[in-house]
Amino acid sequence: MKEVIKLTNIIDAHVHLRTIADKRMPLCTPHTAKFVSGMLPMPNTNPHIYTSEDARKYRQEIELVLKHFELLGTVDIFPTIYLTPQTNVNDLVAGYLAGDVFSCKQYPRGATTNSAEGVSGIKEMFPIYQVMEKYGIPLHVHCEMPMDVDVDIFDSEKFAIQEMLIPILDNFPNLKVSMEHITTKKAAELVSSGRYPNLVATVTPQHLLYDRNKMLRGGLDSNLYCMPILKRKEHMEAIRNAVKNDERGVFLCGTDSAPHFKTDKNECGCAGVYSAPVFVEAYVKAFMEMNVLEKLQAFMSDNFCKFYGYTVPEAMQKTVVVEQVEPWKVPDVYDGIVPLFHGEELNLKARLQ
Ligand code: NCD
Ligand code: ZN
Repeated sequence: MKEVIKLTNIIDAHVHLRTIADKRMPLCTPHTAKFVSGMLPMPNTNPHIYTSEDARKYRQEIELVLKHFELLGTVDIFPTIYLTPQTNVNDLVAGYLAGDVFSCKQYPRGATTNSAEGVSGIKEMFPIYQVMEKYGIPLHVHCEMPMDVDVDIFDSEKFAIQEMLIPILDNFPNLKVSMEHITTKKAAELVSSGRYPNLVATVTPQHLLYDRNKMLRGGLDSNLYCMPILKRKEHMEAIRNAVKNDERGVFLCGTDSAPHFKTDKNECGCAGVYSAPVFVEAYVKAFMEMNVLEKLQAFMSDNFCKFYGYTVPEAMQKTVVVEQVEPWKVPDVYDGIVPLFHGEELNLKARLQ
């Protein structure tokens, strides 16, 4: 076995863990928690995480699962709340100052899983952004147009950058903004340009590895269907280029691992790629293909720490070793959920040091 890389203190800055009531949480959480020092669980749970009290309770739910798997205390949790025009700023600030809330996530109304209560126009959000900017509360943006806007799904991110993201950045220059799961050339170039010093982006493994042909050719693979949807090759290449040449440290690991049971995928093709069981290998594979393994440590951890001013506590520090191994077959399903690379052979394997 040949060591390919050692990674320390991985942070998954965008992961869906669902809730304890919904069976998926105990199934997917250990896959991520085992290898990361920190995880930022998304608030589009059912019910959503709207308030600081919801965030506190959600953290406790996750901790219960971590405890069950003997992972409690080995991984930090960054609770984020689901932003709506009704978000109570006093509660948000109190929760932030108390450490119950790390940040806020904004969904475009109706554009993805559990987003019916999301934002449709950003103007109504300005008073909330203003408070977030003042207190240093970060904003994560799912940058697509709300469903009631008539826009082609493949162009949705591009339009939302123009209509939503840029106005936010222009009006709130000191607001820390993370554009989530970028999928377009326009996004990659905007983030790397440095035009907005407080803007970073998370990048999923699937958007680094694949273009839309992988999902559509030879029959639709709904396991690769996620929001924002995989785009043309030129977009994948632009994202790769931006990540490869990232000198400012503005691209972050955010898997967007989003588990849906196979039965639900079959029935409605719901959006989400389940990458948690293989996410380390997936990023290593992508960075190997890009020939920039030396950039992976910054992407997986350091850029997050720098942008959010975070230091990994001693008890949560971990080293993950990725080795070249005899090809092994990624299972077709894990606990009823189809993972990324399902049924494919991989010659990489991650383990804790
Ligand atoms: C996510 C999910 O299933 O919760 N799905 C997805 O396709 N990414 C929601 C999201 O992050 O948009
Ligand atoms: Zn997501």
